[in-house]
Amino acid sequence: MLSLDQVSVTFNAGTPNEVRALRDISLLVEDGEFVTVIGSNGAGKSTLFNVISGAAEPDSGHIQLDEEDITYWPEHRRSHDIGRVFQDPRLGTCPGLTIRENLSLAAIHGRNAGFRRDVKMAEESWFFEQLERQHLGLENRLDADVALLSGGQRQAITLVMATLTKPKLLLLDEHTAALDPNAAEQVIALTQELAEANDLCVVMITHSMQQACDLGDRVIMMNRGRIEFEIAGEERKNLQPADLIDRFHSLADGTELTDAQLLG
Ligand SMILES: Nc1ncnc2c1ncn2[C@@H]1O[C@H](COP(=O)(O)OP(=O)(O)OP(=O)(O)O)[C@@H](O)[C@H]1O
Ligand SMILES: [Mg+2]
Repeated sequence: MLSLDQVSVTFNAGTPNEVRALRDISLLVEDGEFVTVIGSNGAGKSTLFNVISGAAEPDSGHIQLDEEDITYWPEHRRSHDIGRVFQDPRLGTCPGLTIRENLSLAAIHGRNAGFRRDVKMAEESWFFEQLERQHLGLENRLDADVALLSGGQRQAITLVMATLTKPKLLLLDEHTAALDPNAAEQVIALTQELAEANDLCVVMITHSMQQACDLGDRVIMMNRGRIEFEIAGEERKNLQPADLIDRFHSLADGTELTDAQLLG
């Protein structure tokens, strides 16, 4: 369970460049819940992820993950419990290292956090199984340099790495935005599969209203550092991209994205 209680983040406070990126954000995400976050450029979505993962410091408020208050935990300590995937496929994996070596790094990272397995983590068969389950055809390319893989394949490996040791929370920041439609579809399918298989708590930022309607249990709309509205329950089940676009445009300053961008 992730809980934010009145979290605010201000950049360059007290200067002419002051930006109130998050304003009193309160949010509760239950175990196994999948939440999508939408909002125009600069709304504060990535800052929300930064403050949850420890890359940004809050001016006020508290962040809790399960029973722990993690507000002042350093980023590396939180990284054992929080998996994060970025928009750029190059950020999640190390070029110059093979798929096997990248997976080994993720496994070692988890082991440092107390993650234990009976079998040796680096054992070939275990990585093979992890990849075979994803049906991406990467299980026979364990010795390939990840730099040789396509963006979609690298995002898939990043997702497998981010979920390898079952984090408490998975943060996805527009992780399919740089991919072609086919690769994006594959990575979305893999995202759903991994979230369900591991009963993960997932928060996914997207500019695609279609994805926001297709995925998850709840949609959150951010605007100017605030949560403007949430859609859950029955209303969420029947939600169409056009409904979200209407609500988006009804915000005074929510028109920065074109309909084509919103439909992703
Ligand atoms: N490190 C920083 N220093 C100063 N200002 C920042 C910093 N990071 C973010 N901001 C500002 O905070 C605001 C929110 O930025 P953020 O990146 O969270 O938006 P976003 O919703 O993720 O936008 P996008 O859809 O473009 O990714 C913006 O005005 C941005 O310029
Ligand atoms: Mg962002």
